[in-house]
Amino acid sequence: MLVLGIETSCDETGLALYHSERGLLADVLHSQVPLHALYGGVVPELASRDHLRRTVPLLRELLREAGIDIAELDGIAYTAGPGLIGALLVGSSIGRSLAFAQGIPAVAVHHMEAHLLSPLLDATQPRFPFLALLVSGGHTLLVRVDGLGAYTILGESVDDAAGEAFDKTAKLLGLPYPGGPALARLAQDGRSARFTLPRPMTAKPGLDFSFSGLKTQVRLLIEAHPQEEHRADIARAFEDAVVDTLLIKCRRALAQTGLHTLVVAGGVSANQHLRASLAAAANADGFEVRYPAPQLCTDNGAMIAYAGCLRLMAGERVGPDCGARARWPLAELPAVQSRSGGLL
Ligand code: KG4
Ligand code: ZN
Repeated sequence: MLVLGIETSCDETGLALYHSERGLLADVLHSQVPLHALYGGVVPELASRDHLRRTVPLLRELLREAGIDIAELDGIAYTAGPGLIGALLVGSSIGRSLAFAQGIPAVAVHHMEAHLLSPLLDATQPRFPFLALLVSGGHTLLVRVDGLGAYTILGESVDDAAGEAFDKTAKLLGLPYPGGPALARLAQDGRSARFTLPRPMTAKPGLDFSFSGLKTQVRLLIEAHPQEEHRADIARAFEDAVVDTLLIKCRRALAQTGLHTLVVAGGVSANQHLRASLAAAANADGFEVRYPAPQLCTDNGAMIAYAGCLRLMAGERVGPDCGARARWPLAELPAVQSRSGGLL
């Protein structure tokens, strides 16, 4: 089955072709970073308009690159949520119209499920069940994954997502959008333990996160130490606090569930400091950590094509009422049964 994936939930227009037997055939991406940089963050209306401008030309480029004719497509998968509603509507309108015109099925993909499944695009796939840490700009989730759609949310952020905390803190430090990678670069020059910030919600039991208090702590640090020379140390203290908190909760979740594989996905999974800490813990505790390929950590069309292909092959089709959803809890997704009746 050959599936076109369309991702337009935020500030990247991503399209890809995934074939159930041949794997990922082509993947194109347009980043809106320069467009939003001027404003210090994503401007939703500009995002929608840019997706509208880019999606069809990118589709032409994708098909040309792969040497595929549009008539060869067997299905279309598009990100239906969660995300910016105007941006989602572009992908869903184009995806559904194309499917209608070609007489092929369309499927609505959950953006976080696609992140969660993205490490399965690797030649050596992690096996179910596994623990997933999803850390993106909009979500921080710890999920037990027993199969496709069989997700148990073990913990989530009660306020800011990890990526959102990076972005907001970066702004406080005067760094340009997108803040996460900029803050991580600045933190490389900082000294660890020059300043120490709390590890929120780690003292009490449970697997939920709270990151919004950290930015207040950073604001206080900046006010107390406004000189330029302290910025890298403050960035380092923030990154240490987030990474350590994520690590503590992952270890706790692995111990509670008895799982031995941790899959980490979403934009913050690109963070090198997080990766180094998890690698050290995996070595010490004897668990395995898996990531998507580097270009698949942040938003992309490949993960949408892949998740959509699995659901299309299981017979799922988009209903008439499911265009796009700005909010869409992961736990609402239906589990997908294999032909033998078990989980896929
Ligand atoms: O998954 P993603 O591309 O988009 C969403 O679905 O939100 O994640 C984007 C988030 C942003 O908050 C960005 O600042 C963060 O991931 N991010 C990072 C790094 N690269 C991206 N945060 C920390 N360190 C990084 N290297
Ligand atoms: Zn994402």
